[in-house]
Amino acid sequence: MNKTKKYELVYSIIKSVIAEEDNLVANLANTCAILKEHFGHHWVGYYLVDEKSNSLMLGPFQGPLACTRIPYGKGVCGSSWKSGKALIVVDVHEFDGHIACSAETNSEIVVPLERNGAILGVLDIDSVRKNEFDAVDREFCCKINKLILST
Ligand code: SME
Repeated sequence: MNKTKKYELVYSIIKSVIAEEDNLVANLANTCAILKEHFGHHWVGYYLVDEKSNSLMLGPFQGPLACTRIPYGKGVCGSSWKSGKALIVVDVHEFDGHIACSAETNSEIVVPLERNGAILGVLDIDSVRKNEFDAVDREFCCKINKLILST
């Protein structure tokens, strides 16, 4: 199955899961599980904005142990939060300020979780392969994040 078809399937599964539930944390947790199960990436998770500390707090995820807090503007996640834009990092070792939670990660995509212009957090997906993510991942991860916040 090609990547687009896989994402279409994943999208429809997430849609049916969230149709039954409006709790954000539960839906983020199941989204991570669905993405991890279908794509087998090294790490899939959400970081959620903590306004008090002006940092991202580790949220629901699937994969190895991860950093718990990422300050605003730091690392790939904090940069995506600051810019409000999805970031694709072809080789994390070339990204200035990349936060290495796992030595096995080689590429990464981070997509803001945004509602009415406010960023609530980011979806972060890490791969052991370099250059794993492209415009298809960005498009579908954006759609998935919108879908989750549509409930
Ligand atoms: N690499 C991320 C940190 C989060 S972990 O990859 C799970 C970053 O640079 O923001």
